[in-house]
Formats: sequence, structure tokens, C-alpha cells
Amino acid sequence: MTEVRLETQGLSRHFGALVAVQGIDFKLAAGARHALIGPNGAGKTTFINLLTGVLPPTHGRVLLGGRDITSTAQAGRVKLGIARTFQINRLFRGLSVLENVCIAVTERAGAAGSMFYPAGRRGDLIAEAMELLRTLKLADAARHRVSELPYGRQRLVELAIAIALKPEVLLLDEPAAGVPSAESHIILDAIERLPEHIAVLIIEHDMDVVFRFAKRITVMVSGAVFAEGTPREIEANPQVREVYLGQAAQGAFHG
Ligand SMILES: Nc1ncnc2c1ncn2[C@@H]1O[C@H](COP(=O)(O)OP(=O)(O)OP(=O)(O)O)[C@@H](O)[C@H]1O
Ligand SMILES: [Mg+2]
Repeated sequence: MTEVRLETQGLSRHFGALVAVQGIDFKLAAGARHALIGPNGAGKTTFINLLTGVLPPTHGRVLLGGRDITSTAQAGRVKLGIARTFQINRLFRGLSVLENVCIAVTERAGAAGSMFYPAGRRGDLIAEAMELLRTLKLADAARHRVSELPYGRQRLVELAIAIALKPEVLLLDEPAAGVPSAESHIILDAIERLPEHIAVLIIEHDMDVVFRFAKRITVMVSGAVFAEGTPREIEANPQVREVYLGQAAQGAFHG
């Protein structure tokens, strides 16, 4: 059996009378390429907010590598290896691309153990950040301010920051949202080249991206898991087609 990295048991979140997430039992395998799909308002972002500790659950548990992290705060979960990108980007827009990534690398290195760094070690961290920018084809933009970059490349910087944290689990909430279609391939290429050992969960509405990337798909509807399986199983599921794929895919879906 594949090792489970991240697991939820009966995870729910209410907002007043609204049940946004409803009793979700979910497993993310080590090295997973897993997509979470479903209509607008299905609860996908809320679910990720529960995984990352942005929101506390109303009921249920979150386990990382078998350890209960339900009451671990957001920063603590990052240190344990859960990184994410946000649906709306959060970068230091006035700083350079390299500075943004260096902050993440330094934070991770600090979190990994020693409390201070001799000045000579900083060079290592900058080199690491530069190497990461090279792998994401962002090296030419290293000295540019984030605010000067086209939106697609800004989102790539966000991905660089998440990878710089060296996560075990990477949660991507619509990483190409708002990116012009001419630029969106740079995001998808980067996602496809992520280190294999990272367990990736991606929320994505573009079914071309989902079916190209994912080895496993979970469909959420009205806060609950509606179906889960391989891309083939999901594609062949008539109920899924009816509630979601038919309208979302608009012909782009490989059917
Ligand atoms: N902080 C909040 N307070 C109240 N209601 C919320 C809050 N966050 C989300 N909701 C509601 O919870 C439901 C699920 O929202 P969520 O953002 O998780 O959906 P989603 O699947 O990510 O949708 P989308 O595909 O549009 O991003 C929606 O009805 C939403 O209005
Ligand atoms: Mg969302």
C-alpha cells in the first residue's frame, strides 16, 4: 500500500447555518498527484483552509504522517511540511523576485534548526533561491520587482516560494487562476516538473489541466465528497458528468 501523507477524518466546517465542508474522509498519498474538483462554492478552498490551519474545523481531524495536527496552528503546519499557494496571490510586490524567494528559503532554513546564521552561510541560501528560480525559468526575472512581472510569472513566483519551503505536501488552489491563457502553460509546466516525492493536491477548474496532471481525482459537491477515483473512473462516472464535468468542461474535457 502507498503510504498516506495527509489524512482527514470526518472533517467538517460550518459557517453559521451553512455547512461548507461536510464529514470528509480523505487520504493524500506520498508523492500523490491528486486533483480536487467541483462546482463553485463546493467547499474546495474551505477544505484546503482546514488542511493548512487557516480555519479550525467544526468537527473532525487532520493527520499528517499519522500525527494529529488538528490543533496545530498554520505556521506550525508549514514547519511540519505543508505548503500552499493561495487562490489570490500574496507576494511582497515591492521586493524583487529573488528577495521574495530568499525570504522563504531563509525562513525554512531557520525553521529547520539553528537560530542564527553566520554571514557566510547566506550565500548558500541565495544560491539555493537562484537555483530554484532557474528550474522555474524565472532566473532572468530574479532582480525584477514582483509588481513589474506579468501576472502569470507572479503566480510562478508564488509557486517558487511554496517549493522553497521544501514541503512534503503542496496544496495548490487554482494556481493558474487569472493568468491569461497564453501564459498559463508556464504554470502547468512548472507543476509537472515538481519534485516527485512531494504530495500535490491541486484545485483546478480547467479539465485539460486536471486530466493531464492528476493520477487521482476527488469530486466535491455541496461540501461533501461526491466521487473519488482515477481519471478514467471519474471520466466514466455518469453522475459526475451530470453534476460537474458536462458544464465545466465545455468540450475541453476528453470524453
Ligand atoms: N469565511 C466564510 N464565511 C462564510 N461563508 C463562507 C466563508 N468561506 C466560504 N464560505 C462559503 O462556503 C461555501 C464554500 O466556499 P469555498 O470558497 O470553499 O468554495 P470553492 O469550492 O472553493 O468555490 P470556487 O470554485 O468558487 O473557488 C460557499 O458557499 C461560500 O460562500
Ligand atoms: Mg475556491
